[in-house]
Amino acid sequence: MRDLSVRLLAWYDVHARDMPWRVGPADRKAGTRPDPYAVWMSEVMLQQTTVAAVRDYHRKFLDTWPTVDDLAAAEDADVMAAWAGLGYYARARNLLKCARAVVADHGGVFPDTYDDLLKLPGIGPYTAAAVAAIAFDRRETVVDGNVERVMARLNDIHAPLPGSKGVLTEHAKTLTPDQRPGDYAQAVMDLGATICTPRNPACGICPWRDPCAARQAGTAAGLPRKTPKKKTPTRFGIAYVALREDGAWLLETRPESGLLGGMLGWPGSDWGDDPVPHPPLGAEWIALNEEARHTFTHFHLRLKIMIARVSMGATPTRGQFLTPGAFSPNALPTAMRKVFDLAHVTLRDI
Ligand code: ADE
Repeated sequence: MRDLSVRLLAWYDVHARDMPWRVGPADRKAGTRPDPYAVWMSEVMLQQTTVAAVRDYHRKFLDTWPTVDDLAAAEDADVMAAWAGLGYYARARNLLKCARAVVADHGGVFPDTYDDLLKLPGIGPYTAAAVAAIAFDRRETVVDGNVERVMARLNDIHAPLPGSKGVLTEHAKTLTPDQRPGDYAQAVMDLGATICTPRNPACGICPWRDPCAARQAGTAAGLPRKTPKKKTPTRFGIAYVALREDGAWLLETRPESGLLGGMLGWPGSDWGDDPVPHPPLGAEWIALNEEARHTFTHFHLRLKIMIARVSMGATPTRGQFLTPGAFSPNALPTAMRKVFDLAHVTLRDI
């Protein structure tokens, strides 16, 4: 076992990916400690999207709120707007809750054990293990999709995910070393992201090529197996985009609970099989030919777009007009941004 982690750490010493929040192996050896706040932020964001996409968001968040105290003191709406585009907005609300709990209950210092991290709002087993290992060098095992794939191949496990998650996690735990567990956690993830990739794994240059059971069996590329998912359902809705003559857009802040909770959006119908029209004001609504399509975790959404130009006297039943100075399309969640992109071109023409 120790032999495996030693080999992987030697590989990581040379091939560790450069990430703004990461303290690389050489600096870590020299005594530099990662900033737990930056590590926590990166791990929350990385559950949403790729390393490449996280870089810019992470920089923006750390430039705007350099410490957990700064984030805890931020306005909710500013944080939600900065998160726009990353998706799954409950995470952004939990991010704020967590920052506020760290400040209120821990004096602005992140707890340094898995158990105490897990007690914070919005921190689940993955994030608790990742922060404990990466920021505090605790011997915790971090299991994400990359690690599951690496473990399934290393041990040639053919039982499908998600049922095999427990077995894969046990294998991962057995391999986690006492020495350098923080580097090791990042090394397995880097291996999965760069060498033991879903398609065309680069087995020839893998530090684990000799002990890898799937490589010996010739099964690596087909692992991990996955139980087929049920077909994703489609929901339909109507979005109303009203542009006032002074250039203001009619927008509403969505209810805290529910999808895109707390985010800015276009007033609309419910989303379902057969949405009931529910315009926010009386106007000459025009239907666009093209609809906005967006996929959430559990369903596809198809939004019919209704547009209207309205006068200064228009009085909506919900939402409020935001002038260009008070509104940036960048603050919209992606589904709503797609509606804007389609609507504004036509609206400027009519
Ligand atoms: N994916 C998620 N977290 C990561 C990390 N800390 N290093 C590499 N890949 C990751």
